[in-house]
Amino acid sequence: MKILDGKKLSNTLKEEIKKEVSERLIQKKKQPHLAAVIVGDDGASLTYVGSKVRSCKQVGFLSTLIQLKSTISEKKLLNQINKLNKNPDIDGFIVQLPLPKHISEERVLLSIDPKKDVDGFHPTNFGRMALELPSFIPATPFGIIEMIKRYNIKTSGKNCLVIGRSNIVGRPISILMSQKKSYGNATVTTAHSKTKNLIKLTLNADIIISALGIPEFLKANMVKKNVVIIDVGITRVIDNTNPRGYTIKGDVDFTNVLKKAGFITPVPGGVGPMTIAMLLKNTLIACQRKD
Ligand code: GUN
Repeated sequence: MKILDGKKLSNTLKEEIKKEVSERLIQKKKQPHLAAVIVGDDGASLTYVGSKVRSCKQVGFLSTLIQLKSTISEKKLLNQINKLNKNPDIDGFIVQLPLPKHISEERVLLSIDPKKDVDGFHPTNFGRMALELPSFIPATPFGIIEMIKRYNIKTSGKNCLVIGRSNIVGRPISILMSQKKSYGNATVTTAHSKTKNLIKLTLNADIIISALGIPEFLKANMVKKNVVIIDVGITRVIDNTNPRGYTIKGDVDFTNVLKKAGFITPVPGGVGPMTIAMLLKNTLIACQRKD
């Protein structure tokens, strides 16, 4: 068994990005600048956006946090996005999801300039990704691929089961794993809430990428020996022994699956930190494209 240490790998990636930024500054090139828009005061979203902004500082990026009230109208939010689209100093920006119910996520994502869409959520970027054209790949799938590459995990001809079909993780990673690329060439199955006999699929999988959101759902008796496990689940579970009042759990029963797996990501410290590193990477790419 080998732990896929996302924390360590993300630090390596951040060091690489930091080096590129210092070289840019020596060459008098533009300093990358990421903006993040958050609507409302959801605790988890504030935590994620907070660490995205802190990570910018670590690598020498500029960052701008735009915090808006949960009652803001869709029109005002779209105006704000338009300002970011037009601001030449901002290389890329994200609008943290989910948004309040009265705001159309679709209209918001469509209003982001694809050249600044470092989350890769705009249909233009999603389509380009699917067609293997240059695009921004959404940060979580991008992080998974980078992990697979850097740990030299063999994917060609393997059975890869993706659990979940969200636009942010399940669907894009299903597409990427089947592409004709060094990290791809896998035979991909996408499981979802209507899938029957999931255990038959998990037992047949060489690689399982789980983005389900049910804590410790995947048990040791559901996987085969030497399976590669990528756990994208992050659920807050009430825990009164923890000063924060909760612990973070992944989709996988880590302690037991660990004994059977060939490679496995922990939660926390697996895919999560990789997601932030890849958002920074996308922002650097957005900035470099303007050189
Ligand atoms: N909500 C959950 N994950 C993400 C993400 O990667 N980007 C944005 N913008 N919102 C999210």
